[in-house]
Amino acid sequence: MSAAPVAGLVVRWQAQHGRSELPWQQTRDPYRVWLSEIMLQQTQVATVLDYYARFLARFPDVQTLAAASSDEVLALWSGLGYYSRARNLHRCAQQVVQVHGGQFPRTAEALADLPGIGRSTAGAIAAFCFGQRAPILDANVKRVLTRLLGFGGDLAQAAQERTLWQHAEALLPRTHLQQSMPRYTQGLMDLGALVCLPRNPQCAACPLQAHCVARAEGEPERYPVRTCKLARKAQAWWLLQLEDGAGRIWFERRPERGIWAGLHCLPVFGSRAALLDGVAQAGGSLGIEYPALLHVLTHRDLHLHRVTARVPQPPPGMQGGGWHHPQELAALGLPAPVRRLLQEA
Ligand code: ADE
Ligand code: SF4
Repeated sequence: MSAAPVAGLVVRWQAQHGRSELPWQQTRDPYRVWLSEIMLQQTQVATVLDYYARFLARFPDVQTLAAASSDEVLALWSGLGYYSRARNLHRCAQQVVQVHGGQFPRTAEALADLPGIGRSTAGAIAAFCFGQRAPILDANVKRVLTRLLGFGGDLAQAAQERTLWQHAEALLPRTHLQQSMPRYTQGLMDLGALVCLPRNPQCAACPLQAHCVARAEGEPERYPVRTCKLARKAQAWWLLQLEDGAGRIWFERRPERGIWAGLHCLPVFGSRAALLDGVAQAGGSLGIEYPALLHVLTHRDLHLHRVTARVPQPPPGMQGGGWHHPQELAALGLPAPVRRLLQEA
């Protein structure tokens, strides 16, 4: 199979059948494209639309975002999850302003040096905004390309992934790059999202059907190949909702690494016994124990238990936190599940 027809087929299919109404498709402004790509990394388009509009209304350009407080950035991100994205987003904006004079770099190589921008996101921005001949390889595109090529290498191995990147590069358009690269890049994303689905790919509607090895083999779902699936773990987290006489709630900041890094949170205990211990040490009286709420993360299931307790005065042993009135919570960077938890009566 030669590369040229594939690129042309993707480009033509995108123009006729691909998505064209998404707000980040109406611009070549790298700030807007970058923001959309970061938000879309682990979040569905439908969810991103609202957040994207709100974020841009508050931070219309990279300078405004760079100058904002990290609390405000995290508060606007709250609900999108994967908060390291928000922290990297903020850092990236600051770096663009401080190191690049407020202009995003124009090549995938330079973009990939910025915080939170991996090789695929860098390729997407460079292709969409600058027409650079740079490949992308997110999960959807890996599925399309491994099937198209009948690529059976184990993507858990770095060497196999590198080889797939080389294939992705070889397949790129070679002409009219300013028009073809944005269309081709969006076309691969759209094929992965709309046609070449994980289960029951719609091969009869696919512009690549005549070239597709996996389709000819008869079992496209065999691709992509990836061994060593991550084992899911379950964990119970006991969250203490400590209230003082004025109805204020005690929040601590999460450590800079790990789940909910850097966000404000109720104190977390590893067991009910440890939490009761914490209440006793604070001289508090136990309130309500709520049923656990399941929170699904990529690598584990968190069972979140909320327990309320009252303390007569600020507990002397508790440091690194502060009291907040319930009406202040909207402006506080809280993990979305904790926010939900607190909204239950
Ligand atoms: N997912 C990642 N990037 C996207 C884009 N530009 N359009 C739609 N979905 C996406
Ligand atoms: Fe995917 Fe089917 Fe198209 Fe092959 S023909 S790329 S398996 S949708």
